[in-house]
Amino acid sequence: MSSLHILPVAVPESPLTFVKRSATFSYYGKLCKSLAHHAAKFVTENTDGVENELITTLQAFLEASHSDCMGDPSEKSCCWFTIRITKPNNAFDIPRWHQDGRMFQYDEGREAVARSKYALTILGPPTLLLPADSAVFETITNGEEKFLWWRGNEGKKSTEKDRDEAYDAMREWLSDEFRETDRVAVTKGDIVRFSWGRNDSPVHSEPQMLMDRVFMTVLHGSEAELRSMCEFRAVEFGKIYNE
Ligand SMILES: [Fe+2]
Repeated sequence: MSSLHILPVAVPESPLTFVKRSATFSYYGKLCKSLAHHAAKFVTENTDGVENELITTLQAFLEASHSDCMGDPSEKSCCWFTIRITKPNNAFDIPRWHQDGRMFQYDEGREAVARSKYALTILGPPTLLLPADSAVFETITNGEEKFLWWRGNEGKKSTEKDRDEAYDAMREWLSDEFRETDRVAVTKGDIVRFSWGRNDSPVHSEPQMLMDRVFMTVLHGSEAELRSMCEFRAVEFGKIYNE
């Protein structure tokens, strides 16, 4: 399975034009039919979207990602689904190039299976993605060696402030390093699959937030895996968070 892929499916569009207010929807639990309904209601409350159209879009996204995801039904009965609705802001004027780390405790015997997150942007700019090639990974490794001095250095303790400063410095450095690097072309309506928790997981960043944006991601896993994620994140399994 390639670490980065655009699914060959067209998701029906919901013609959104603006965001009323920034808000985040997040759910960890069983993948059930009502999820797209709850999520569509949330998007409708915070944008000019039409609920019925959004149900179709969100359902198509959840279904396409679920059927693409490897595993038998019990190995992907649950999901983490999040929607980020944002007004323009400066938070990503400097890109935050990174790879996603491990999200949950893998089920025994499934450690080697590549796990992915699926992303879809229905309003505004898509996620920035760099090609999954060795030059990109080498730059990330160099950045980590240069700035994250406490790694592999048992004798030296870092404070939270040290780490924040180091990550900020590395972020600026990577922004310069990748300034001329070609990005993977993602067009509106594309569902992007990218792996996490692996050395070759794609390097990506939030885009510059110059416009209203509605962006969503989902990952699928077993109930035990999603419950372990809830533990890591101190959230409740089966509950919708709407902030
Ligand atoms: Fe990420």
